[in-house]
Amino acid sequence: MSAKLLAWIVLVLVLVADFFDLSMAQSKKFVCSYSPAKANPIGYQPEYIPLEVCTHVIFKSFDFPNFVGRQMLFSDNDKIAFSRVLTSVRKRSNAVRVVASIKGSSRDFTSTANTLVRRKAFVQAAVALLLELDADAIELNWSVIYSSGLNTDRSTMVSLLQDLRQALNSASKSIKNRNRELWFRGSLHPNVIPESYNVFDICDLVDHVTLDPDTADNLESAHAPLYGTPIVLPVQAQAFIRNLGSVINPETGFYTTTQRWIDEGCPPKKLLFGIGLHGVRKAYSASLRSLVGDRATLGPAEAKYLEYYELCKTIREAGWNYAWDQYGTMPYATRALQNGMEERISYEDLNSLRYKMDMVVGKRFGGIYMDYVHSDDIYGSCGQAYPLTSYLSSRVRSIPSDIGFAIEWN
Ligand SMILES: *[C@@H]1O[C@H](CO)[C@@H](O)[C@H](O)[C@H]1NC(C)=O
Repeated sequence: MSAKLLAWIVLVLVLVADFFDLSMAQSKKFVCSYSPAKANPIGYQPEYIPLEVCTHVIFKSFDFPNFVGRQMLFSDNDKIAFSRVLTSVRKRSNAVRVVASIKGSSRDFTSTANTLVRRKAFVQAAVALLLELDADAIELNWSVIYSSGLNTDRSTMVSLLQDLRQALNSASKSIKNRNRELWFRGSLHPNVIPESYNVFDICDLVDHVTLDPDTADNLESAHAPLYGTPIVLPVQAQAFIRNLGSVINPETGFYTTTQRWIDEGCPPKKLLFGIGLHGVRKAYSASLRSLVGDRATLGPAEAKYLEYYELCKTIREAGWNYAWDQYGTMPYATRALQNGMEERISYEDLNSLRYKMDMVVGKRFGGIYMDYVHSDDIYGSCGQAYPLTSYLSSRVRSIPSDIGFAIEWN
């Protein structure tokens, strides 16, 4: 091989490497959430968070701050726990961003956003998380609840977000090259989206909306369904409601509900699709099931969350039958219990995650977040450690950057 050719090959390789670096910088977000309250009991330290795959760590979470005098204060314990996570991340990486999630009920948030004094106090407390505790972003987990009629969330949300955005912009200016972000947790409950959110304004004001998959886990037998199960009406009913046809498509699946966020004006790249690394177990009577089919799991059956690291062991026990929910596009396992009861665990596996990731790619979301990184089989008790995280990470990494396709103007 001539020296000239060799030099040329080296040059091409360097250019190719450069190109990949560039595309990495534009790449999709892979957000790992971490909850000390859940991680501590299983001995999972912030030091274990796999920063080689996470682009962001969400700390979950700060309780809603208390109003003291004219100030709002976060709990000291939450601040200490947050600082532990932040310090550990900073020590290991200067690229990974840390997001402080603040949770509150609809009541907490609306009563704060409603009055000028409280709203100012909240904004001040939130900015302190950025400037004093050095968070890169805050996320509001404003838990809207579905109630038809009276809804105060919709308007108050925008005023609070406006004030936060303004405060964040000036905080970002005070330190050069430190861009602080505002994130917002969004519900995927089909009734909540049009009722409680002014989607267009929210997405204009925030940097990212994290779409929470646990907001719709009681609508279908599959707890995180891609599509809703069609309801076939009995013949008698069809005569009454002629114009509906014989099949009703419930708009409960994530394919539809995420689309609502887009259709109501949210740029897809601002949306981070949530993936829960847990299953949901329900017990119900076997005779009811033979009567009404899969929907037996919907009624009063109480849902119990099982982290993937425990459920991967549970479903290996004897007596389980495995099946696939064709509309939810996710697996489930059932087994008989005593006294005529049955139990069913709906869960995610590599197959169901493949369909979800296909949607993430197809809809060109900004990335995904995982609840929680420590819910995966972190210690490898069912095989390779972090099976779901590894798969999701490899899928996110393989999404070509948007820049490669088109230049987006907003
Ligand atoms: C939001 O907060 C509620 C409790 O208010 C919690 O159950 C839920 O898991 C949180 N969601 C996220 C995405 O952190």
